[in-house]
Amino acid sequence: MTDPGSEPLANLLREDRRFAPPAGLAASANVKADAYRAATADREGFWAKQADRLTWAKRWDKVLDWSDAPFAKWFTGGRINAAYNCVDRHVEAGRGDKVAIHWVGEPLDDTRDITYAQLQDEVCRAANALTALGVGTGDRVAIYLPMIPEAVVAMLACARIGAPHTVVFGGFSADALASRIEDCRAKVVITADGGYRRGTASALKPAVDEARTKTDKIEKVLVVRRTGQDLGEDGWDDATDIWWHDAVGSASPDHIPEAFDAEHPLYVMYTSGTTGTPKGILHTTGGYLTGVSYTHDAVFDLKPDTDVYWCTADIGWVTGHSYIVYGPLANGATQVLYEGTPDSPDPGRWWRIIQDYGVTLFYTAPTAIRSFMKQGDEIPGSFDLSSLRILGSVGEPINPEAYVWYREVIGGGRTPVVDTWWQTETGAVMMSPLPGVTAGKPGSAMSAIPGVGVDVVDDGGRSVPNGSGGYLVVTSPWPSMLRTVWGDDDRYVETYWSRFPATGERGAYYFAGDGAKKDADGDIWVLGRVDDVMNVSGHRLSTTEIESALVSHPKVAEAAVVGATDADTGQAVVAYVILRNEAGDGGPLIVKELSDHVRKEIGPIAKPRQIMIVPELPKTRSGKIMRRLLRDVAEGRAVGDTQTLADASIMDLIAAGQAAST
Ligand code: WTA
Repeated sequence: MTDPGSEPLANLLREDRRFAPPAGLAASANVKADAYRAATADREGFWAKQADRLTWAKRWDKVLDWSDAPFAKWFTGGRINAAYNCVDRHVEAGRGDKVAIHWVGEPLDDTRDITYAQLQDEVCRAANALTALGVGTGDRVAIYLPMIPEAVVAMLACARIGAPHTVVFGGFSADALASRIEDCRAKVVITADGGYRRGTASALKPAVDEARTKTDKIEKVLVVRRTGQDLGEDGWDDATDIWWHDAVGSASPDHIPEAFDAEHPLYVMYTSGTTGTPKGILHTTGGYLTGVSYTHDAVFDLKPDTDVYWCTADIGWVTGHSYIVYGPLANGATQVLYEGTPDSPDPGRWWRIIQDYGVTLFYTAPTAIRSFMKQGDEIPGSFDLSSLRILGSVGEPINPEAYVWYREVIGGGRTPVVDTWWQTETGAVMMSPLPGVTAGKPGSAMSAIPGVGVDVVDDGGRSVPNGSGGYLVVTSPWPSMLRTVWGDDDRYVETYWSRFPATGERGAYYFAGDGAKKDADGDIWVLGRVDDVMNVSGHRLSTTEIESALVSHPKVAEAAVVGATDADTGQAVVAYVILRNEAGDGGPLIVKELSDHVRKEIGPIAKPRQIMIVPELPKTRSGKIMRRLLRDVAEGRAVGDTQTLADASIMDLIAAGQAAST
């Protein structure tokens, strides 16, 4: 492992734009500056206060039991039902008629508004149906659905009966589905005949049928009829398959939720590690719900009576779990849920949804922002986006230029941008500006939210001084932390807690796997995974830093940088660049121009060995650039496994371009 960032990250740290919170927002913000002091003075007391946001069937005895560290127990002795907190209590408080979900499906006229009372009815029926299928407390249920309201209902129904769910992204293959089902031994799968994407119905059920040939764990398959497509004679097995509308439709809408232990498993979410098989990240109930409810309220300044919130993530990722399902619903929000893609039927789809539903709080990923940036200002400019008041970003470092574009063009220059750093493992946002408190710096997640401790440390676990880089760590346990890797406690300890073990003076630190830098003010800039850090002639460089430099060039829309093995310099910088539409082919000197630009922004050491102008970048379905594949091309190897790519043909184009240019 390389030590990230001991070289000055000049171009990021030269970023000196600041955006203070709008005065009105600051005055009425849910969370003010004093929250930091209160949380630091009494961290457990602070989280106890946040847990009081929820409705507990039995109050906890102890806020945190860390006696078996790193295995944490939060709110021990407390009993709670997550679904009751996300649905019933809002109905009981007289808000049953409030819209919980504005669902925008893909055939454009396919929309549904679902109130909290309707959601309660559906969740209760589904809970009864699952019980009738033999799902008991503690049994695992796999959910493999498109972005339809039934996905939310299915998750909440599982939570309601204490059956941990594992949601598998609908774009994953039968193999990926089978291996997850096998790993957590899920006995029921909830799926659909298919879903819509870019105007066509794509089948899902056949992947479940195929998964059944690879694992014998599946006892029942509950199938939502979404597209109505023909499943074929072999596509239905009466012994296992049941239609959702039969089972759920005929079930009773009355269901009394049982209160479970605060540490009862809520879900398992699989995520890829740096190597090896995906890890099943386990989240439990009371602490997780406390974390997502508090952060959703604090980071988005949610005003449940007036805000319309929209997170564009898929429910198959942790962002969908924490910031579509559990956080917003625990807080009684009204939100948009959408099916499809941003560019179909036209590139104005998202902006039209914001305009039509009056979205006020919007949460998306830098990769989406950059691709909109590439299309220019005109498309968003033709919609009324004036309802927006806070914009969020998550998933990867946001380049300063993309941040500023997001703020100016989408947010009309009024909206704070909250750059939220967190992970599947952390369950909830860990670092973010607070929209009513923090003067945001473009490209920085700034600092830990109240109640959370993060630091940047060197190889020996010592806090680095301002102006230096190192490893990002979490310095004390937090309520929504993962509890273990499903079925593999050793891997949990080894992956997250052994890099910076407890010393005489302090407890172990949680190792996030990200490199970061503190600026002169002590604010934190996340630089990306430590495995994406390059070492060129003994100088450490961040892929993010060079990408940021490239994207700050007016002709560049998007860039991905990898460190390729080089006989002379150890590693060399290889950059893949997508140009903005208006830049055309960039002109004959484009490569030199970009190379000079990087040299100017960062220094000669960062100058790419090679710059390739490409039409697209290889991305996973969740939008992460697969640098591993780009490294294969840069190092002249056969391109490795492309099965998680959204579009595998992109690699053929890039590899052909590389061959032609060398
Ligand atoms: C990266 C997504 C910089 C980081 C919620 C982390 C970020 C990984 C940010 C987790 C951010 C996420 N700035 N990097 N604001 N947010 N990351 O598990 O490398 O899909 O470790 O969780 O995404 O990805 P995951």
